[in-house]
Amino acid sequence: MNIDLSAQSPGAVYALLTQAIIPRPVAWVLTQNADGSLNVAPFSYFTPLSSAPPLLGFSVGRRGDGSPKDTAANLAARPNFVVHIAHAELLRDLNASAADLPPGTSEVATLGLESVPFAGSTLPRLSRPRVALCCRVHRTVPLDPASQTFFIGEVDRLYVHDDIVAKDASGRLTLDPATLDPVARLGSTAYGLLGEVRHLPRP
Ligand SMILES: Cc1cc2nc3c(=O)[nH]c(=O)nc-3n(C[C@H](O)[C@H](O)[C@H](O)COP(=O)(O)O)c2cc1C
Repeated sequence: MNIDLSAQSPGAVYALLTQAIIPRPVAWVLTQNADGSLNVAPFSYFTPLSSAPPLLGFSVGRRGDGSPKDTAANLAARPNFVVHIAHAELLRDLNASAADLPPGTSEVATLGLESVPFAGSTLPRLSRPRVALCCRVHRTVPLDPASQTFFIGEVDRLYVHDDIVAKDASGRLTLDPATLDPVARLGSTAYGLLGEVRHLPRP
């Protein structure tokens, strides 16, 4: 089948793209609400972008009523944020944090997630994810005419749980994907977990 996307509704395009481009990593993004409480939500339109400077990006749509999602509103006012990579045990919490709560409601408090200080970061990190990236907004790109905004973040600090870090023969830090155990988003309500990991030498 060869599908002309220009003949599809935005909803159908969303469904097709998000089921075709899989698996996607999920940025579990923590921002600060105006009252100082913590907001956390998952975003799978997410990717690393460059290493020097270290940049990542994720895009945020709008709520059904057209109002901005808390993450976007928070980042417009307070540019610091923390991206977490959730492992399989955290999948239920990750998914639950996508609930459409009233603006300003803290998912961290509602879901009983624990946060801990993140050395070098003004914001805390969630205690359980094995990876956390301390970021601040580098650039905000409106994706007109879509009601989507692409946030590019510069990563200042990387937290990795000691259990996943090792050093290779040349002394470079390596992270073990199986111990990290990341969840990935597939289409619709489907998530993927890491399967077999294969190593191939670079040609
Ligand atoms: C796994 C997963 C990935 C998601 N990815 C995105 C995304 O990339 N962009 C987006 O706007 N919403 C995405 N959503 C929906 C948001 O998480 C949801 O709208 C959430 O309520 C936003 O929270 P906030 O208002 O606290 O920012 C995703 C939901 C799930 C469960």
